[in-house]
Amino acid sequence: MRISLEEAAAKLAAGDVVAIPTETVYGLAADATNDAALQKIFATKQRPADHPLIVHISDISQVNDWAAVFPDTAVKLAKAFWPGALTLVLPAKAHVSRVVRGGESTIALRVPNHPTALALLKLSGLSVAAPSANLFTQLSPTTADHVEAGLGENMPVLDGGACAVGIESTIVSVAPDGQWLLLRPGMISEEDIARVAGEPQQVNIIGGDKTLVQTAVPKAPGQHALHYSPRTPLLLFKDRHTLILESEALTKSGLKCAALLIGDGAKPSCTATQLSNQPAEVAEQLYSALHQLDSLKVDRLLVELPPNTPAWAAVLDRLSRAGHQGNS
Ligand code: TXA
Ligand code: MG
Repeated sequence: MRISLEEAAAKLAAGDVVAIPTETVYGLAADATNDAALQKIFATKQRPADHPLIVHISDISQVNDWAAVFPDTAVKLAKAFWPGALTLVLPAKAHVSRVVRGGESTIALRVPNHPTALALLKLSGLSVAAPSANLFTQLSPTTADHVEAGLGENMPVLDGGACAVGIESTIVSVAPDGQWLLLRPGMISEEDIARVAGEPQQVNIIGGDKTLVQTAVPKAPGQHALHYSPRTPLLLFKDRHTLILESEALTKSGLKCAALLIGDGAKPSCTATQLSNQPAEVAEQLYSALHQLDSLKVDRLLVELPPNTPAWAAVLDRLSRAGHQGNS
């Protein structure tokens, strides 16, 4: 159900949830200071309570309302990338609701770069918590239609067109001493962050034991294996040739498949969507393409992985969580 900016502001003030556009993906927004409203986000998404939410603020001056410390490194990052697809995780002020923090001692903050989102923040005078506007573990929405398809026709949606970035923000945690860590890759790359903030914190690998490395890194709740998934089982392929062989084998065994391809090259005989070979264009179109392929209701989606290079890190991260390796 499409609603106006004024209706969206009124709903937020009344403690209701509203789907809003941002430049990354659509968010399911509620007043970040209202616990009852925040609970509606978790209920609507069927999201576990220990997964913290990102608070969307209208400008950098509001950071101090939420964060107990705003280290210089984080100030530099905010000045360089806000409004934009960067979320900063900072130590939270004591008054910040445990619901929005998901029980963590930190708070995630972002100024979205979308005129409609910024207009809503200004008109309502609120900061809004907003996870992606999809059911837990499913594909994120990048259009108002995707939101309605996932959360139902009755979900109030403020339509701001298709999202220009197309995948979720880069998340960086900054400690009081200015050390930083990438918690979720996004289209603002780790190299972009390092150019502004210096090199990231070195994690000590004691005896090369990987479990020690994992416990040394702050956890980013919600980053577990299957996320960003279409309903159709999805297989990932490192090369086009193997993907085509698999599509032939599946077809022979009576299963229907559809493919998502990156760049030019040979095509399988099943329905195929071909994206470009440019990371920013692929990110913008990725979820739309997956939503569309998912709607075909075939038995398997076969997805070609882009090369394992820094420019593709965010797209690779999302795809690797959307399905299983088909040719490992
Ligand atoms: O681009 C985006 O970030 C979108 C738009 C709507 O802004 N939002 C989004 O929210 O992707 P969501 O809930 O789908 O992902 C937020 C993730 C959580 O799963 C968690 O990993 C991380 O942000 N996060 C939030 N607060 C955190 C905290 N205090 N500490 C560590 N990670 C946190
Ligand atoms: Mg999400």
